[in-house]
Amino acid sequence: MTEPNRAEPPRETYTSRLSLVLTMLGVAVGLGNVWRFPYMVGRFGGAAFVLVYVLAAVLLGIPALVGEWALGRYARRGPVGAFERAGFPKGRAVGWFLFFVMFAATGYYINALGWVFYYGVGQAAQLVGAPWAESAILPPATGFEPRSFILQMVFTGALILGCAAVLLRGLRAGIERASQILIPALFLSLLVLMIRALTLPGAGAGVAWFIGKFEWTAFTPRVVAAAFGQVFFTLSLGGTMMVIYGSYLKPEDRLPGNAAITVAGDTASGILAGLAILPAVVSLGLLSASEPDLIFVVLPRVFAAIPFGRLVGLIFFLGLLGSGFLSAIAAWEVQVAALTDNTRLTRRQAVWWLALLIFLIALPPMPNQKIFLAWDLTFGSGMQTLGSLLAVVALCWCMDRATVLREIGGPAPGLAIRLLYLWLRYAVPFLILLVGLWWLASEASMNT
Ligand code: PHE
Repeated sequence: MTEPNRAEPPRETYTSRLSLVLTMLGVAVGLGNVWRFPYMVGRFGGAAFVLVYVLAAVLLGIPALVGEWALGRYARRGPVGAFERAGFPKGRAVGWFLFFVMFAATGYYINALGWVFYYGVGQAAQLVGAPWAESAILPPATGFEPRSFILQMVFTGALILGCAAVLLRGLRAGIERASQILIPALFLSLLVLMIRALTLPGAGAGVAWFIGKFEWTAFTPRVVAAAFGQVFFTLSLGGTMMVIYGSYLKPEDRLPGNAAITVAGDTASGILAGLAILPAVVSLGLLSASEPDLIFVVLPRVFAAIPFGRLVGLIFFLGLLGSGFLSAIAAWEVQVAALTDNTRLTRRQAVWWLALLIFLIALPPMPNQKIFLAWDLTFGSGMQTLGSLLAVVALCWCMDRATVLREIGGPAPGLAIRLLYLWLRYAVPFLILLVGLWWLASEASMNT
């Protein structure tokens, strides 16, 4: 293991603790919270899923987040340098592998964000009475639809330029500033929407549907695996984004407390989103059409039907756009840092090269939802969980114990920090593997 050379050019750090937490929430909160979480709760057994999810967030999410930050801060690098500096076998290759995973993930994530952008513009158009083909951008279930493809290229292309504009300015002037505005805006928009939804007639039934039922039968391998996958997805854990954002932490920033706040804020936004969306959907009797279509098909119908709906809809899609935008920026920052830290490219050159490449990699998942969902499952869930597992192993099995304890607990780590270390070293990898195998076994037995 090589000790990183501390005489390198200074790396940017966060301006304050509040800004640190808002930036980390910007990485974490996104489509995963507002789109994925509410429909998963509905599909996988209501309160039972929430319970498994919260347990997984506390037992796996917080420790893994501490682990990824510690790895990034120690190495002062994103994944490419971090795995190498931690002494992971073939560390550089592993880092580049995760770079490509992130590259592919950015491609499809920014696509879905393009839909959100289109819907936001659509709510604004309809607010002023302009005609608008509401779902024209959505890819068809199968096959190919030229109009949807072209619209996706335009809206995704515009978003790519928007991300580039923020990334060119670096951490403090770009990423931090954007997070300070957009994260409070998202929480505010969800609150407005929740109040609107809860005051609709029949809203109680929606709340009951969301968290009121508790089915023990929900504890199947599929549900537990889905909850685990969702924790890694929504917290942006994958050995990449949180590693690079961890590399901007100051030596004195405390990791466990900030991780707990980040996970609590992320979970709160998911629950808030559920309370904001589902009562309205149920009160209009639109529940049967729910599931993944919830946001793009069902919600616009809700907005069309309720008083002040268009305005609420505009606020909703803009809030979601802002938070998803920050997650896309995080995914892209992983790649920018990999290029600037490991090649001679400047930040500006890296951003523009990646803008072109990300546009190209966003094209293959565009034609239809079948391809898109396969992409989501592979690069969004599966590979992210694997990446996080690798990061935890790099930290706890390749680096020496004293260094890791100092990274996660400061100069005088107490008993709680030591227990956290043991938990990260033995329980977290084991639990991830166990649930993965359990899921594989049950899928295999279902297919035979
Ligand atoms: N954490 C982000 C969200 O919840 C998800 C994300 C995962 C973003 C993978 C990019 C890549 O939306």
